[in-house]
Amino acid sequence: MTKFQERVFSGVQPTGTLHLGNYLGAIKNFVELQNKYNCVYCVVDQHAITVDQDPKELRSNILEVLASFIAAGVDYKKQIIFQQSSVPAHSQLAWVFNCVSRIGWLNRMTQFKDKAGKNKENVSVGLMVYPNLMAADILAYLATHVPVGDDQKQHLELTRDLAIRFNNTYGDTFIVPKAYQPKTGAKIKSLSDPTKKMDKSSENQKSYILLLDDLNQVKNKIKSAVTDSEAKIYYDVENKPGISNLLTIDAALLKTTIEERVSHYKDMSYQDFKLCVADHIVAALKPIQEKYHALIKDPSLDAILDTGRDQAKMIAH
Ligand code: TYM
Repeated sequence: MTKFQERVFSGVQPTGTLHLGNYLGAIKNFVELQNKYNCVYCVVDQHAITVDQDPKELRSNILEVLASFIAAGVDYKKQIIFQQSSVPAHSQLAWVFNCVSRIGWLNRMTQFKDKAGKNKENVSVGLMVYPNLMAADILAYLATHVPVGDDQKQHLELTRDLAIRFNNTYGDTFIVPKAYQPKTGAKIKSLSDPTKKMDKSSENQKSYILLLDDLNQVKNKIKSAVTDSEAKIYYDVENKPGISNLLTIDAALLKTTIEERVSHYKDMSYQDFKLCVADHIVAALKPIQEKYHALIKDPSLDAILDTGRDQAKMIAH
């Protein structure tokens, strides 16, 4: 592979079952991009340990993310899927970036500010330098495209800044990568508070849909999704965040535009609209769940990670 061949890199943290936001913002695009590019998809366990983890649970979450990638359609025979900590180049290059990055840059990261909150003095150093490790993940593979949801865009900007600063100081070394974002689905919102992003750390389980949720539960979660009292279906994120979020989810699942969805639903009641959206989510999740449950029992999952590690090492090293 030549230095300038286009390559996709992305990662997902093994911190529990993935949700619909992870699927629509990232994993669904991993699958679409594999028809066009060489892709490297990483289960980023070193990112997960920036907060305390139970080792046994972390191990099973790593296999869960791997099985979810494959169940969603990532072709492990053609693409590389591996576990971050099995390739030392990530942490080696992250140290170099710890020395290139600026504390001011890291202090501006909104995800760090959100996660650290008022507890800034007490969180791990890893949580603060996390974006440097993310930059190492991407730049070690000379990736050109990075499929991520909206919440990772700022980290990608920092990755680009690091590549540019390094190249300016030490000579042309790294490719400056671009974010790849879906037209719809880069920011799926909470079902209970659609002004916030869907996030499984929320205490309200009705606010998110997990890829492995019971399908009746999925329908109930959509039924109870917060909307508004206007009883008219159109897209307006500011004034109708709940309806707009459901339209976004529906358009992303059906690979169509929000405008097309609005014209389809415009004369429906909220109740019927929600039933249709729920049916579309169930239709997307059902085959993923069936494949997942068959895969997760398969002892050869470890061998997939071993093969991925060997292939990833050759590029990153
Ligand atoms: P993580 O594990 O939090 O999320 C995985 C992917 O899911 C996207 N995502 C969303 N997309 C739309 N709507 C949402 N509500 C939503 N929530 C999450 C994320 O944007 C992400 O694309 N730091 C990264 C992992 C990472 C990485 C990398 C990504 C580490 N190294 C290198 C790309 C390249 C993270 O914590 O994602």
